[in-house]
Amino acid sequence: MNPNLQKLHAYPFARLGGLLADLKPQQPPLSLALGEPQHRAPDFLVRAMQEEATLREGFGRYPATEGTIGLRTAISTFIAQRFTPARCDPDRHLLPVNGTREALFSVAQALADPGERPLAIIPNPFYQIYEGAALLAGLDIFYLNESSNNQWNAAPQALDTQTLKQVGLIYLCNPGNPHGRVLSEQDLTAWIQLSQTHRIPIICDECYSEIYDDEANPPPGLLTVAAQLGLSDFNLCLVFNSLSKRSNLPGLRSGFVAGDPKLIEAFRLYRTYHGSAMALHTQSVSTLAWQDEDHVVENRALYREKFQTFLSIVEPVWPMQRPSASFFLFPEIPVIRGLAPQDDEAFTRWLFEHAGIRVLPGSYLSREAEGVNPGAGHVRIALVEAEAQVEAAARRIVQAIAESS
Ligand SMILES: Cc1ncc(COP(=O)(O)O)c(C=O)c1O
Repeated sequence: MNPNLQKLHAYPFARLGGLLADLKPQQPPLSLALGEPQHRAPDFLVRAMQEEATLREGFGRYPATEGTIGLRTAISTFIAQRFTPARCDPDRHLLPVNGTREALFSVAQALADPGERPLAIIPNPFYQIYEGAALLAGLDIFYLNESSNNQWNAAPQALDTQTLKQVGLIYLCNPGNPHGRVLSEQDLTAWIQLSQTHRIPIICDECYSEIYDDEANPPPGLLTVAAQLGLSDFNLCLVFNSLSKRSNLPGLRSGFVAGDPKLIEAFRLYRTYHGSAMALHTQSVSTLAWQDEDHVVENRALYREKFQTFLSIVEPVWPMQRPSASFFLFPEIPVIRGLAPQDDEAFTRWLFEHAGIRVLPGSYLSREAEGVNPGAGHVRIALVEAEAQVEAAARRIVQAIAESS
């Protein structure tokens, strides 16, 4: 058996299941734990998926790893409009992937060179796939602590040259999960400069890039900044995005990777053997999804309303701030009589028992590094359910906190 499998950590939702297994909540369970979009999949895409000719074609043919030119052109148009001045050549800079998760994982298998560069930098807290990807690729991990003290944003300048000589991959998450912080153009510039100086590929997970608060201020993307810096071929930069959050299609398994053509070509070769080509009917529907922005604007409006509803109810008893992007809140836990302060596991159990609400302990999304676990003392709240449920959850939380004091 691959010995690196032993290094993998239990997945946060498996740990959450274990944490809450013995509890009988006083109210019917309602989950704010999972980051799975629950808004309705766009009708025009559901209809498109039902077209017989599309399905017959999709069912009847092996798809190519590089995808159809139609899909790659739609993605490159999306990038040109959303991440200007970046321009992607559909033949050189892009590949379709089956959601960002598999691609964020498999890219490490394709690009890692543990003998030469045995370390991967990943943010801490993180999306756990980065950690598993690096470990299974035979890399050790440098956990880059991001905390509420540095606004969940660790400056790359803090990394020393000796460490950087060992680093073969840098994972970034922008906007970030679990906290929704957005890296500015300046932050991204610093990361790109570091990557150029030390010749380290950046794997930038942008799957929340289209879920943001201010219509006039979308989060900047890595390719935008690379192009502004004159890297029109995106040297050492790769971005990963998908339709899961943008278009409420988490089950379609459709996304893309874009950037440096040398890395894209290596990844294409790897994927040919891995067998991760996207089904043709998925590609057809995905093409339509990337071509339409109206449903994405509507989607953002729904999240805006839910944040407003949730925060207007909860904030008076449990202060927290809406991040400028993503559908998460990552507040410090409130002080509850009888519970140890900062114990996010104990608070998660308490909230489930007294209000039936599931949230995710922050310490399940991070590791202890340099003596601290930066996610500890926080919980992640995902506002993915319908507004009525989000409102009901907020009322239950407030009532439970009020009754505890
Ligand atoms: C930060 C982050 N990256 C990637 C993913 C995977 O998304 P998908 O594979 O659906 O694109 C998720 C899913 O929750 C996520 O939170």
